[in-house]
Amino acid sequence: MPLDHRLQPNPYADISSVVDLAPGQESFRDAALRGLALEQKAISPKFLYDARGAELFERICEQPEYYPTRTEMALLRAKASEMASLIGPNAHLVEYGSGAGEKIELLLAALERPEAYVAVDVAREQLMEATARLATRHPGLTVTGICADYTRPLPLPSAPNGRRVGFFPGSTIGNFTPDDARGFLASAAQSLKGGGMLVGVDRRKDKKTLDAAYNDAAGVTEAFILNLLRRMNRELDADFDLDRFRYVGFYNEAKGRIEIYLESLQDQTVTVAGEKFRFRKGERLHSEYSCKYDIEDFQALAKSAGFQPQAWWSDEKQLFSIHYLSATPLN
Ligand code: TRP
Repeated sequence: MPLDHRLQPNPYADISSVVDLAPGQESFRDAALRGLALEQKAISPKFLYDARGAELFERICEQPEYYPTRTEMALLRAKASEMASLIGPNAHLVEYGSGAGEKIELLLAALERPEAYVAVDVAREQLMEATARLATRHPGLTVTGICADYTRPLPLPSAPNGRRVGFFPGSTIGNFTPDDARGFLASAAQSLKGGGMLVGVDRRKDKKTLDAAYNDAAGVTEAFILNLLRRMNRELDADFDLDRFRYVGFYNEAKGRIEIYLESLQDQTVTVAGEKFRFRKGERLHSEYSCKYDIEDFQALAKSAGFQPQAWWSDEKQLFSIHYLSATPLN
């Protein structure tokens, strides 16, 4: 029986190591000041995941309208052994944005003698907890947590006996623009050379299903995005009045993406880290895109980044897909 780490005297005793690259305060301040000064105001979605944001995101994943998490988990459960046989034995797993660390368990259950697991995430506490739990449950696995922004170059532990295999679930790839996604995949293909990568990708579908997924009736998505303003109030000495902004999230069919904004409900001036920013009534602060890909479109994107698409899986309703990409050059 796996031990519950909360019952242990030192919950972090079993992590092999945690490397803190401090993706922190300074960069949030810089990014916020830079983003708020833009003609189209924008702040990168990676700043949504402070401790409170990470918690709210876990709750989004449980909302009835938000199908991606459930669908991807079911796919992982159903197809893990096929994925494991493509990945092969002795893999060194690298997860980009490991979050609560639940999905990797489904893969670990099916893999043959996985050697190492490197979890990369900006949410420090969640990373500590998740890696501690994993190390306790999998005594033979070398578990490393890297608290870092994976969009930047990463120092990865060496993988002498095994191939590196990336794991990038949750359709987080969709939160990049297609160009940035290609850039991220190209650098992943380099660091995973000789191995491969498993990527979860949300598919294009009807607008009604997509609009509902990002506008849950319980309002958790709204709270998650508004938390960005709260975080600026807390960490950057800002004075956003949360009642003067509203969450806007909708599917842009022509572009094949969800667009997420915070909209100012009136003309107002806000102070952030000592600087003043004007918002007009109706003006939007862009938070993120969630790009949706048809199977062929994603395969083409992966190829253009230097991966060889090897297999993909999808659910009966064709909602979500998981792709296995090989990082072994063809010749
Ligand atoms: N990768 C997730 C997605 O694009 C992240 C996400 C889910 C999200 N719900 C959200 C981001 C709501 C912002 C707002 O689906």
